[in-house]
Parts: sequence; C-alpha cells; structure tokens
Amino acid sequence: MKFFLDTADLAEIEEAASWGALAGVTTNPSLYARVGGKLADFPKHIARICELVDGPVSAETVAMTRDEIVRDGRELAAIAPNVVVKVPTMVEGLAATRVLADEGIPVNMTLCFTVPQAVLAARAGARYISPFVGRFDDISEDGLAQLDDVVTAIGNYDFTADTVNGEQVEIIAASIRSANHVAQAALMGADIATVPFGILKKCVQHPLTDRGLEAFLKDWEKVQNA
Ligand code: E4P
Repeated sequence: MKFFLDTADLAEIEEAASWGALAGVTTNPSLYARVGGKLADFPKHIARICELVDGPVSAETVAMTRDEIVRDGRELAAIAPNVVVKVPTMVEGLAATRVLADEGIPVNMTLCFTVPQAVLAARAGARYISPFVGRFDDISEDGLAQLDDVVTAIGNYDFTADTVNGEQVEIIAASIRSANHVAQAALMGADIATVPFGILKKCVQHPLTDRGLEAFLKDWEKVQNA
C-alpha cells in the first residue's frame, strides 16, 4: 500500500515528503479553505505541492456539469504533469471522467461510498477511486466494511481497457480517521491510503518502540562508560 497525504498544507507536505515514504497528495476544497487558500492562488498552490511531492497530486473540480468539469479538469491538468483531477461521483462526473480519461488525463473519483459507484467510476475510466471510510462511520455505518467490499469488487475485474494508458485503477482509502483505519486498509489490499498528517505521525509511533529505544540508549551509555 502506498501513502498519500490528505492535506493542502505546504509545511505538512514538505515534512512528510522528507520522511521518504510519501507517494502522493490529495487535496479538496475544504482542505484548501482550511489553509486560508484564495481562489486566485489555487493554481500556484497546486503547482507548489506538485514540486514538493514526487507523485500524483489530486486537485478537485467544483463544477457541476460535464462540460464545465472537463474544462476545469483540463486547466488543472495543465498546472503540472503530476496533477490528477479529482471529480465527484455523480452522473455529470462520470461523463466528464470518460472525456478526461480519453484525453489521457488521470481522474481520482471522489466521494465514493458504494460498490456500484466504484465499479461505475472504474468503467468511466477513473485512474483512482476514493471510497470514504470515516464519513460512513460518522453516520454509524461500517466504513471499513464498505471499503473492503469496494476493494473486492474492483479486484474482481480487469479495468485496463477503461483507464488512461491501460493502467489498472487504484483504490485510495480516504476519509481516514485513525491508524487502525490505515492498518485495516492495508490488510484489505487497498492500493493507497490518503492520510491526514496527524494520523500519519500516529502511524509511525508506538509506546513499545519509545520504551525500547529508551532502554537501548540507556544500555549504550553503560557500554560507553564501561
Ligand atoms: C479524499 O481524498 C478526501 O480529501 C478526504 O479523505 C476526506 O476526508 P474527511 O472525511 O476527513 O474530510
């Protein structure tokens, strides 16, 4: 499983990239608003993220019709070669995804909650599909079970004839709220987890690692003073 960072915060991206295990970034309108982003600065901000990370960077369209999504998608894709256009799972979004995919522009189909939505997204040519885990949990549904179903369903078929350049569609476990969500996504075989920075830090840490390290350092001091 690859790790993407789910943020529009440049400092977080810079730090996570320095850890050596970051494969991409996903942003959305809410994440951009959270860092105080302004509309006019959006292309510049995405361009900067694309410089910081060696991998796909999802930038979301907010248009609601096929032609507007396609227009915005083309503009976003022109920002940098590693931009992936994030498109909501809806009828107009599927139609736009087909057009963008046929032009060789990779799409991340977002706000995906069910197996039928995911299979339709794959057939429309999405390069990535983002099933949301945490938002299902928020309404007292089992987000991990839904993710598991999507991973199984997509794994049942070959979508290479549908995607950009014949690549296999990849599942991005999204709306991740805990290190356990990350662990379960990996056990299910999700291709990618897109993780907020705070959760990514928690994924690195364990109290037994801290305790073990402390003991090793103390014992090494004894070795030095022996
Ligand atoms: C996906 O790419 C979205 O940006 C994200 O995972 C949404 O997560 P949230 O439910 O925490 O807003």
